[in-house]
Amino acid sequence: AVLPDADVYRVTTRPAVAELLPGLQTPVLTYGGSYIGPTIRATTGRRVIVHHTNTLDMGTAVHLHGAHVPAAHDGFPTDLINPGTTRTYEYPNRQAAATLWYHDHAHHMEAEHVYRGLHGFYLLEDPAERSLKLPKGAYDIPIMLTDARFADDGSLVFIMDDSGNRTTLLTNGRPAPYLPVAGRRYRLRLLNASNMRVFRLQLAGGEELVQVASDGGLLPAPAPTGTITLSAAERADVVVDFSRYPAGTRLVLSDTLTGLPVLRFDVEGRVRDDSRVPSVLRPAAPLPPATTVRDVTFAYDFALGWFTINGRLFDPDRVDFTINRGSTEIWRIHNSTSPIGVPHNLHVHLVQFRVLDRNGVPAGPAEQGPKDTVSVAPGETVRVQATFTDHLGRYVFHCHQLDHSSMGMMAVFEVV
Ligand code: C2O
Ligand code: CU
Ligand code: CU
Repeated sequence: AVLPDADVYRVTTRPAVAELLPGLQTPVLTYGGSYIGPTIRATTGRRVIVHHTNTLDMGTAVHLHGAHVPAAHDGFPTDLINPGTTRTYEYPNRQAAATLWYHDHAHHMEAEHVYRGLHGFYLLEDPAERSLKLPKGAYDIPIMLTDARFADDGSLVFIMDDSGNRTTLLTNGRPAPYLPVAGRRYRLRLLNASNMRVFRLQLAGGEELVQVASDGGLLPAPAPTGTITLSAAERADVVVDFSRYPAGTRLVLSDTLTGLPVLRFDVEGRVRDDSRVPSVLRPAAPLPPATTVRDVTFAYDFALGWFTINGRLFDPDRVDFTINRGSTEIWRIHNSTSPIGVPHNLHVHLVQFRVLDRNGVPAGPAEQGPKDTVSVAPGETVRVQATFTDHLGRYVFHCHQLDHSSMGMMAVFEVV
């Protein structure tokens, strides 16, 4: 038989109404009718083609966050799917297994569009990861964390830079849901899909979570921890062994920054478990020497009254960095927002980078894997290193606190 060499998805972007809070009807924007878009499952080496039809009355752009794709398929902010039209995105999936995320990226609108629901999971797997025998199938759970501000009538209130008032936490679109789990190992794919919030997660006050992957895929080795901190757009895949708890135990995953519950696990009886967490996951490739060092400075500009990157607001027609294909670069990311003291994070399209150090201190075990988003606290300097391989063209990098990026905290690099 001749097998097709691509998986094909058709997604229609349209408004819908969802019950996010019990008994309330909330108007949302959707990929395909449900508040969180369909989960796309992909395998390294096999293409995915997504036909996106936009029925909204405004332009959209779909970006596959964390993916290594040609510029024409990256969802550049001004490369819009116009209302009433269909656009085909093709993803080559020539990268290692990772928890990816697709979301809107329309110029100035991504913050509101994502907040109202235009995003979904894209789970990429590969044979090497499969052979590790991590928990899979029904024991591999994507968990999307967001926050929201609801009006009394159930509608979502979106006001730019109003994150302090988005005080309802949602987990896969519901407030603090529960999940019955068997007494065995699970893989939990944690994604901070909020616009602005930092989540600091603990299971029942500090039970062991074994982190196995970061944004761009497997860590070199499992990193056991009691706390997972994720800034906006960061991912952490953790394995939890629920066989350590007697049936009937209830374990709450909470955000310790707000004290709010995120997800409750109700442990049921033990079941047979063939999964494991090997002591070696994916050894990190040696870092090639960098030929260019660049500075990326986040600052508050008093004259513009807004946050900038290297002193400027986003201009989609201006190329900020020109990068030679094949080159390896170190970017020094500075957050100089003192005395205002606002955290930011940096997301770079096209590549996965390695975090080298924070204020000169080498990155910890959880940051040893491939990353595409890194938090930068006020006063901090973080160095990351990336190699820009095959694709040419224009891409963006930005603060992934989306209210910030939508207000212009974004810039363009061009690979030549
Ligand atoms: Cu999550 Cu510019 O992207
Ligand atoms: Cu991205
Ligand atoms: Cu920011």
